[in-house]
Amino acid sequence: MPHPNDSHVFFTHWKKNYPVADYGKGIYIYDTDGKRYMDAIGGMFVVTIGHGVPEIADAVAAQTGKLCFANRNMFSNEPQEQLADKIVSMAPEGMDRVFFVPSGSTANEIALQVARNYHIERGDTNRYKVIGQWHNYYGATVGALSMSGNLATRRRMHMDPYFLDFPHVQAPSCYHCPYQQTYPGCKLACAHDLSRIIEQHGPSSISAFIATPIIGGTGGAIVPPPGYHETIREICDTYGILYICDEIITGLGRLGKNFGIEHWDAMPDIITLGKTLGSGYSSLGAVMASKHIWDTFVNGSQSNIVLLSTYSGHPISCAAALAVQNYLTEHHLVERSATMGRYLKKALQQLAEREPLIGDVRGEGLFLGVELVENRDTHEPYPLKKQVSTQVVQRAFEKGVVLSNRFGTGTQADGDHISICPPLIITEAECDELVTVLGDSIKEVREAL
Ligand SMILES: Cc1ncc(COP(=O)(O)O)c(C=O)c1O
Repeated sequence: MPHPNDSHVFFTHWKKNYPVADYGKGIYIYDTDGKRYMDAIGGMFVVTIGHGVPEIADAVAAQTGKLCFANRNMFSNEPQEQLADKIVSMAPEGMDRVFFVPSGSTANEIALQVARNYHIERGDTNRYKVIGQWHNYYGATVGALSMSGNLATRRRMHMDPYFLDFPHVQAPSCYHCPYQQTYPGCKLACAHDLSRIIEQHGPSSISAFIATPIIGGTGGAIVPPPGYHETIREICDTYGILYICDEIITGLGRLGKNFGIEHWDAMPDIITLGKTLGSGYSSLGAVMASKHIWDTFVNGSQSNIVLLSTYSGHPISCAAALAVQNYLTEHHLVERSATMGRYLKKALQQLAEREPLIGDVRGEGLFLGVELVENRDTHEPYPLKKQVSTQVVQRAFEKGVVLSNRFGTGTQADGDHISICPPLIITEAECDELVTVLGDSIKEVREAL
């Protein structure tokens, strides 16, 4: 187990030891000491088809032997073409074009540029601001981080001098309603906050609104109330603003449908993909543009658009992702995500009935979250400094289950939640094992508080 002091790796924590992950099989990762860990967070919301799938290794080996790379301004390549076809065939009606990039952050950064170019092409040259959601995270690059609204985990901390003046709307969190109201009496105040922000900043300056179908790791799977995305869509149409849907965690099966936004009746203009696209077998993201955006460019004043990314459409990355997505379809893993998600959520709800620390169980498909609170009646969170969820995740890790915790769903930076996001191949018995370890870990922490 290396300690950061004895390594040349730039670890982002320097007071703990890191086991060395050696190999993976199914939903498990094994370290070099032979210890087995259930990967209940899919690496980092990434792995959907499971670890160690031989078909993907074969596809990568074959492509590596055939063509590693070719200048994308001069050539297309077969894996990129086939993957674009595959993703479009899975996407909501109207999505037409795919630009591949190396990561989720780059996907959102490029989405910002596509939106800006679209408005310029239409003569709307003042539109540049992208509105994000408080509590959400869209990536680490300056544009994506400026859109992000995560307060608690130091993701934005100290970076203020670099931020673009991008506004944010209230998060659609019913458990901690920013208006202290309840649905449906609230009349979707969180969605209508978008109109307020647009009017405040001047509609002619706004290029796009970015949201995730459900708020990811930084929210512990916050599911917006019914009608949220539909209302957002209407408001964007009213003001001529593009709707970017970040499906980097939620896309390609994670929520029990091909795309998470299909749980609502709202068609985005742009969809971004990342983590689940390569399921960990390649580092790949994508920007999907709907037909009306593509047509605006093709019928416009230019013959090209400048989108910069050396590795866009990388043949080996695309070959891996193509094999992943074919595997997902052939093994009916999207449907399985819905079925097993229901099973796991029910087991978590049963745990919540006997575990007083759990205030909320939420999520969709196999992306679930539990919120830990000091007071279940008032939803009062524990103070951030107690690091309650960190302690739970650490204990679960010692017991061989990998989870992820974050803060910030409460009133300020506090509000502990734990995300559960296993590979979609998880079985009922493995779900039971997961819930047992989580329950034991929470109990131990509660007793020590
Ligand atoms: C919703 C969401 N969007 C974008 C990103 C950025 O993706 P990446 O870390 O691959 O750049 C993340 C990463 O956690 C994410 O959760």
